[in-house]
Amino acid sequence: MNVIIAKNYDELSRQAAQLVAQKIKNNPKLVLGLATGSTPVGLYQGLIELFKQKKIDFQKITTFNLDEYVGLAPDHPQSYHFFMQKNLFDHVNVPKERVFIPNGQAPDLEKECISYEQNIQKQGGIDIQILGIGRDGHIGFNEPGSSIDSRTRVVSLDVMTVNDNARFFQQDISLVPKQAVTMGIATILAAKECLLLANGAHKADIILQTLYGPITESIPASFLQKHENLTVILDKEAAGKLSENLKSRGIRYEDYSQKTGGGPLG
Ligand code: PGA
Repeated sequence: MNVIIAKNYDELSRQAAQLVAQKIKNNPKLVLGLATGSTPVGLYQGLIELFKQKKIDFQKITTFNLDEYVGLAPDHPQSYHFFMQKNLFDHVNVPKERVFIPNGQAPDLEKECISYEQNIQKQGGIDIQILGIGRDGHIGFNEPGSSIDSRTRVVSLDVMTVNDNARFFQQDISLVPKQAVTMGIATILAAKECLLLANGAHKADIILQTLYGPITESIPASFLQKHENLTVILDKEAAGKLSENLKSRGIRYEDYSQKTGGGPLG
């Protein structure tokens, strides 16, 4: 595990964008796992910027999104299809036919989940999976109770997740879908590399539990401790409860929270 503590959200996003851009440069046919939510928006803006500067080309990459709500059409403003279009795909040159997002409106959702897994296999597996984290420790929509063996499937959302997401649905909980299709924990852990991002003081507790607490189904993100190639980029608020733990456990970490600019990738 490599933990990077950035000064603020902008720095976190810049570091994450640099890291992903480097992966694309090293491997133009990268299979990139994408996440939605507010956390990766800055990373996507960074990638768009690098694309505009002609520093990266998305022409040959393939993308797989973590999840999608059940029942929302791709053009619904709160669907993850729409989110990805607006926050990334409208601005870069990923070929449409190599963008994969679960279809939450598939007539046979079980079949959709199986074919999503098969598709990932067909593309040779995910090279790097971007992840945000929910306050309940979910990654993708793998809510507490998700097993380490879980694969892409239909899940019911936790009350905390529905409440947290109501802000995107006019604060009306009744409008928030209660089910989603999500990659499983095993699907995520099979990625060759994982990049976990978190910002804000409201994520400090769950980050502490995720990285240094017991590995348990009640905090699905804690399974990431088992991943051999995990990078975590945090802002200093999300890292707020870590510093003593990092030091006392001898964990490799780089703290850029006091510096202007800089960072492992410049
Ligand atoms: P957020 O959501 O990025 O909007 O905080 C993260 C998540 O629920 O995975």
